[in-house]
Amino acid sequence: MNPDPNHNLAPDNLDAFWMPFSGQRQFKQDPRFIVSAKGMYYTDSNGHKTLDGSAGLWCVNAGHHRPHINEAIAQQLEQLDFAHSFNSGHPLAFQYANRLVQHVPDPLNHVFFTNSGSESVDTALKIALAYHRRNGEAGRQRLIGREKGYHGMGFGGLSVGGLVKNRNPFGLLLPGTDHIRQTHGLAENRFARGLPPEGKDLALDLERLVELHGADAIAAVIVEPVGGAGGVHLPPVGYLQLLREICDQHGILLIFDEVITGFGRTGACTAAERFGVTPDIMTTAKGITNATIPMGGVFVSDEIFERFMSSDVPGVELNHGYTYSGHPVACAAGMATLDIYENEALFQRPASLQTVWQDTAMSLQDVPEVIDIRCFALLGAIELAPRPEAPLQRGAEVAKRCYEKGAWVRPIGDSLVLSPPLIISEAEIKTLFGTIAEAIIETQ
Ligand SMILES: Cc1ncc(COP(=O)(O)O)c(C=O)c1O
Repeated sequence: MNPDPNHNLAPDNLDAFWMPFSGQRQFKQDPRFIVSAKGMYYTDSNGHKTLDGSAGLWCVNAGHHRPHINEAIAQQLEQLDFAHSFNSGHPLAFQYANRLVQHVPDPLNHVFFTNSGSESVDTALKIALAYHRRNGEAGRQRLIGREKGYHGMGFGGLSVGGLVKNRNPFGLLLPGTDHIRQTHGLAENRFARGLPPEGKDLALDLERLVELHGADAIAAVIVEPVGGAGGVHLPPVGYLQLLREICDQHGILLIFDEVITGFGRTGACTAAERFGVTPDIMTTAKGITNATIPMGGVFVSDEIFERFMSSDVPGVELNHGYTYSGHPVACAAGMATLDIYENEALFQRPASLQTVWQDTAMSLQDVPEVIDIRCFALLGAIELAPRPEAPLQRGAEVAKRCYEKGAWVRPIGDSLVLSPPLIISEAEIKTLFGTIAEAIIETQ
């Protein structure tokens, strides 16, 4: 074992770690190790600095290395390293929950703690099923997702997810799921600034599934308000409102998966608030602790919570939970993260930076090979023409060049997706897009 974290590891040290979502045989031939991070920048083991255009994985919303969060974590470990919450409790979980619900729309006034986005999604789907059962509608068992949606890699989230490559290796998945049509790909929306003007009526596709399965067989519809891991797909104007109306008409619960959009990404704490559409259940994770300690939270409406609490049967209201639900160290990290979001007004920053973000993103419109640009708040995607002989490779080629030139961006197929920490400056926004433009031209 090499005790020096700043030292590059030799190839024979790389075998034991099965890397997540990685082409690891390739990675291990030419490994790159990140050894430190501060503010907007990562530093690798060669001392090379890169501007973080992805906030880690859409999660380090307040920027890297925040001493206030680090101190809160250290202090909490001194005070209480762990206590579970199964018929037990520690004050911080309750205090943190009370504070969190102030940041999400009414009536989402209750939060169930998890450890990741995937757990949040599976928890949300299970709450939806159990809610209908409690309501005397046990027939409502179908869970509906959307094509190109990403809801993590638990069996529930994967089953409602719509990314074919993620689903394919695992066979049948959960029975009784279905998918509405994706919102991406309308030619009229190419290079739209902000939300796409066309496509609201794609929400009507839910009516097709209501006709096919019967409304009384459908428990819930889950969508990302802004699709992230599928390639940054923005909701057409009016789409989420229409989806809400259709769900209401048919007694179907609406779940927003805000694992990426939660905690400021769209210019309000939640996309629900930014878009003025309130779901019945909302999943979060990632930015909840600025990614320092794994945590997630599922917010549910008063109506759903009360349905469980009003039971005549004594004892456990929902047989569900995780050892680390409400972990004290994660709660301390989350509290300190909220301090930063509040004190620095970070949830407002994407809206105030939006004009610069959009102007700078759109300045790449005439760069060769760019076939679409999507940008809203501090989210964006640059889509490139696929190479006929090698589709879906171009994003990785450009991202590699960006890295060499000092910017960290995330490739998804032939696209580059962007979600920088919310502390990014105007100058850094220009550097980020400038670097991408050069990298596209240089790898043409
Ligand atoms: C919308 C959405 N849901 C769920 C997840 C899964 O989160 P995790 O990787 O923390 O399990 C992600 C991860 O990117 C996500 O983007």
